[in-house]
Amino acid sequence: MAEIVGAYFTSHVPAIGGAIHKGIQQEPYWKPFFDGFPKVHEWLAEVKPTVAVVFNNDHGLNFFLDKMPTFAVGAAHEYQNADEGWGLPLYKPFKGDPGLSWHIIEQLVDDEFDITTCQTMLVDHALSIPFELAWPGVDEWPVKLVPLHINTVQHPLPSAKRALAFGRSVHRALASWGADERIVVIGTGGLSHQLDGERAGFMNSDYDRFCMDHLASDPDALTKHDVHEIVRLAGTQGVEILNWIAARGALGAGAREIHRNYHLPISNTAAATMLLDPA
Ligand code: DHB
Ligand code: FE
Repeated sequence: MAEIVGAYFTSHVPAIGGAIHKGIQQEPYWKPFFDGFPKVHEWLAEVKPTVAVVFNNDHGLNFFLDKMPTFAVGAAHEYQNADEGWGLPLYKPFKGDPGLSWHIIEQLVDDEFDITTCQTMLVDHALSIPFELAWPGVDEWPVKLVPLHINTVQHPLPSAKRALAFGRSVHRALASWGADERIVVIGTGGLSHQLDGERAGFMNSDYDRFCMDHLASDPDALTKHDVHEIVRLAGTQGVEILNWIAARGALGAGAREIHRNYHLPISNTAAATMLLDPA
């Protein structure tokens, strides 16, 4: 049987990829953010995942405003990284796990989620940067990938309650997966940030702390705000917290926080990194 070894959450600001490329992680601007990662590396070396189930949002590579699935699941043998225009270096391809993808898809449809299945899917900075932060400089990614997309871009967005239920359905699939795999669940994006409009640059540490404080012990607390309240509290792109909420659902009922790093700003974002163990 598969084992869920834990969950890793991190922001996915494209400029992080630029900092890695330039090798400036120890400069004063970047150091407080990158200081959150030695613990992640230690933990990954300990729990040794073989598959990553990643909740993230597409930023325009696969879906644009003309066609936007609420939830989509990758079911490819391989995923290529592409750049939506940030000028980031391209990372090596990601090996898929189509067997697990289809097992998750079956469970989600059984649980009445009307998803889009993607047998081809590009991955953008929302996935490549969390991977490069977790496994810097490796020749080959040490895990196979199942990417899940949640619409955090084109309203109407799914509610936090729905995102948590989506993650919990994925958990049922992971808990019944017969292959001998060690699964790490990953949620990317957030925390509070707004890139556009009058409030561009908006961040909200109070709401970020509320999310981080409840993520392990009481994720349902994060569903008390509707999506418009989340946009008000977290910013138009801070609503990427939906990815974290879904990933928390996929981890399972109990969880224990083992690591947290929070620093702002990184570009326009209040950047956070967390690790949770299943409990
Ligand atoms: C930034 C943050 C994001 O989540 C993103 O997808 C793009 C840019 C930023 O803060 O620059
Ligand atoms: Fe983003």
